Formats: sequence, C-alpha cells, structure tokens
Amino acid sequence: MGKILVTGASGQVGRRVVEQLGAVHADLRVSGRDPAALGGDAVYADLTRPETLPAALAGVSKVFLYTMPTGIDGFLGAAAEAGIEQIVLLSSQTVVDAIPQRRPIAEMHRVVEEAIAASGIPYTFLRPENFATNILMWGWPEMIRADGVLRFPYPESHSDAIHEADIAAVAVAALTEPGHEGRSYFLTGPESITQREQLEIIGEAVGKPVRYEELTDAEAREALRPIVPEWVMDAVVGYWAHTDGVPAPITDEVLRITGVPPRSFKQWAVDHVADFS
Ligand SMILES: NC(=O)c1ccc[n+]([C@@H]2O[C@H](COP(=O)([O-])OP(=O)(O)OC[C@H]3O[C@@H](n4cnc5c(N)ncnc54)[C@H](OP(=O)(O)O)[C@@H]3O)[C@@H](O)[C@H]2O)c1
Repeated sequence: MGKILVTGASGQVGRRVVEQLGAVHADLRVSGRDPAALGGDAVYADLTRPETLPAALAGVSKVFLYTMPTGIDGFLGAAAEAGIEQIVLLSSQTVVDAIPQRRPIAEMHRVVEEAIAASGIPYTFLRPENFATNILMWGWPEMIRADGVLRFPYPESHSDAIHEADIAAVAVAALTEPGHEGRSYFLTGPESITQREQLEIIGEAVGKPVRYEELTDAEAREALRPIVPEWVMDAVVGYWAHTDGVPAPITDEVLRITGVPPRSFKQWAVDHVADFS
C-alpha cells in the first residue's frame, strides 16, 4: 500500500488518525510545523509554504490532509510530482448545506475540495458538521473547572457532536481499504444533543454539580470575542440561533464505513474528563 503521510498530526483529529493508523499500517509519516513536538521521525511541513512539501511527500502514496486554502495549489503540484495516489481531506459538511452565517467556512472548504477534484488525484472528502471538541475552544473547560456554572447562550441549540476518534476511524478506513475514491461522507455523531444536555453529561462524567446560566446572543458575542475570531463569530453564534430547538440531522456513515457505531457524547465526556476537572 505504500507510505501514508498524516498532516496536522498534532490536531484533535490528526493525532487520532496517527494512533489508529499506526495500529494497522506501520508505514506512515507524520508532519507538522513543529516536528520536534510530534517526536519520532516527524517531518516539517507547512501547508501554506509549498517549498516545504516535496521533502514531506517524497516516497508517499497517500495523504491525510487538513483543509488549508492558502497553498493548496502548491500542495497539489507537489503531490502530483510525488505521484500521490489518494488524498483523504478533512473537509466540512458546510460545503453542501451551509446556513448563510457559515458561508465563510463553507468557502474555504469548497475552494480546497474543488482544487483537489480538478487535480485528477483520487480523493475522499470527510465532511463532519460539528466536532464535540468545539466546546473545548469556547471556554467550557474553564467555566466548569471554576464553579460549574456555564454562562453560555442557546441551551436548546442542537449539535450532531461527533467524536474526533470517529472521524479518524473513517479516515483510516478510507486510507487503508478499497472503494473510497471519489466519495464524500457526511459524518455525524449518533445523536442530536442540546448544549444543556451536553453540560449535564459532562457534569455526570466529572462528578460535579453544573448549572447553565443563559446569556443573550449579544452577551455571548461579547464574552466570546477574546476566543472566537470575528470572521467566524456569526458562523458560531448565528449557528446556535439557527439550531435553537431544531434537532440536527444524523447519518449512519460512521457505522457503515467502519462497522462500528459512532461514540456517544457520553463517551466523549468520559474521554475528556481531564479537560474539565
Ligand atoms: N470544528 C468543527 O466543528 C469542524 C467541522 C467540520 C470540519 N472541520 C475541519 O476540521 C478542522 C479542525 O480539525 P482539528 O480540530 O483536528 O484541528 P486542531 O486541533 O485545531 O489542529 C489543527 C491542525 O492543523 C495544523 N495546521 C494548521 N496550520 C497549518 C499549516 N499552515 N501547515 C500545516 N499544518 C497546519 C496544525 O498543525 P501544526 O500547528 O502542528 O502545524 C494542527 O495539527 C477545521 O479547520 C476544519 O477544516 C471542523
């Protein structure tokens, strides 16, 4: 099958791909912008700097790729030169059905998907909608660790919260099993779950009383300003408004592709207890 390159090996999904791929396929290379932190034989590769890519791609036959619009043409040139046989892209379902507030996110993934499709290199597009890990970026760990009070908007906003390990499992299947070329997969967790339910489940996993203190939309934008970049603020808060009380669509792609049901949010909370305690 040849050597597989995992880019973004320090990422939430990338590091799970490295773990799971390593268990079934010994011939792999990992890359990032800080290879020393990745350890082992990790190599330097900055996807926005094409001159760093030929060395990372030398001798490689397949790539797990993070979406990076800046530099995608350079990446594809280097990939063609290296004879890459398949790219498995961590893309996004926003490419297919973004609400208007999410169009900037959709656009960055669309540009990369279209460039890959036009390159002629066989591809598999992984399209999750909402990572369960997102709440780690939005201050949930800090608030839950402090006093258990989550000051947050839209408690009834639904998510299809997918575990990063399930995205990785699909990536590994796509990289190591036949029949995934030219396919795009809408990946979700097993259930539609509200933000309030997520908090309750985390409280149970951590063994600590938790409470949801609802912020208004405007209060939330103000509170999130230090951690959410302005260009995605609407994509984040506007999305919660859009999904307030509206169950998220759920697919069976993880089960169909890996043969194993996707992990529940309860499982995700158990796996991430250390983040909240
Ligand atoms: N969050 C969601 O709900 C969601 C939904 C659908 C799709 N997605 C997609 O998933 C991605 C996030 O995945 P994640 O949570 O695993 O990411 P993450 O934990 O934030 O890690 C990002 C990874 O990207 C790498 N990276 C960043 N800039 C790079 C560059 N210039 N060259 C090479 N590597 C670079 C980083 O590697 P180094 O810093 O080590 O170089 C890191 O490993 C999003 O960007 C989006 O494309 C997310």
